[in-house]
Amino acid sequence: MAEQQNTDLQQPAVQDAATAEERVPTVVADDLHIVYRVYGSGAGRGSATAALNRIVRRKPSTGVREVHAVKGVTFTAYRGESIGLIGTNGSGKSTLLKAVAGLLPAERGHVYTHGQPSLLGVNAALMNDLTGERNVILGGLAMGMTREQVRERYQQIVDFSGINEKGDFISLPMRTYSSGMAARLRFSIAAAKDHDVLMIDEALATGDRKFQKRSEARIRELRKEAGTVFLVSHNNKSIRDTCDRVLWLEKGELLMDGPTDEVIKAYEKETGK
Ligand SMILES: Nc1ncnc2c1ncn2[C@@H]1O[C@H](COP(=O)(O)OP(=O)(O)O)[C@@H](O)[C@H]1O
Ligand SMILES: [Mg+2]
Repeated sequence: MAEQQNTDLQQPAVQDAATAEERVPTVVADDLHIVYRVYGSGAGRGSATAALNRIVRRKPSTGVREVHAVKGVTFTAYRGESIGLIGTNGSGKSTLLKAVAGLLPAERGHVYTHGQPSLLGVNAALMNDLTGERNVILGGLAMGMTREQVRERYQQIVDFSGINEKGDFISLPMRTYSSGMAARLRFSIAAAKDHDVLMIDEALATGDRKFQKRSEARIRELRKEAGTVFLVSHNNKSIRDTCDRVLWLEKGELLMDGPTDEVIKAYEKETGK
């Protein structure tokens, strides 16, 4: 597995000077390891014998379970690339994105990013008791947009989300929204800004076909605007339509990194999907 990664990494080095100049790295993961520590989950914790053992040994319980979610992942993402992340449930896709966003510390290895990566749905944390309207404004400001920019883009964000298609929902508190509506609004806010690195975790799975089409178009636009896009999706078609490169994670390890078609074909063969 490690060998596969290495050959991929060598690609940029063998490019001629002209193309090498154009390839600006935006995210570099170097032998990245992420470990979750779950406290209070040790075997037998809570049982009388375990408690007695602790008292007798006068040692604190070692009720810490470690989950090694990302194991030595190495890749370089470049400006203008749209990268799909695939792998079965629990393979480490969300964890990897969170680490790139700087929300989880590396146990070993490093992540370098150019600019501030935005993880869709986390950076734009919306508030349930506020109206959609207030959330659009606060979300925009939180992403570093000026009041003026938020005002300019407000209508565009609301239209994009489709929240008001069936009535004036934008003036209602977010808690009255279905989870699909909330997800669409979140995506629309995040997509209103040009990002250096935009990461989307299964956001496209929500929303109807029309909204999915709009988001895919916006992702293509963001790519043109020289950002890098990461997309986690269970829908291989979404990945095929929007990504030119795919990383395949399995059990925390990078199994494959290559052109979308090749990787998806191998993945479908393996998983029978
Ligand atoms: N907050 C957490 N605490 C402990 N373990 C976690 C946590 N989040 C995810 N995991 C574990 O890390 C592994 C990778 O999870 P995740 O990154 O969510 O995978 P994916 O997004 O590919 O489904 C899984 O084994 C999962 O159970
Ligand atoms: Mg996930």
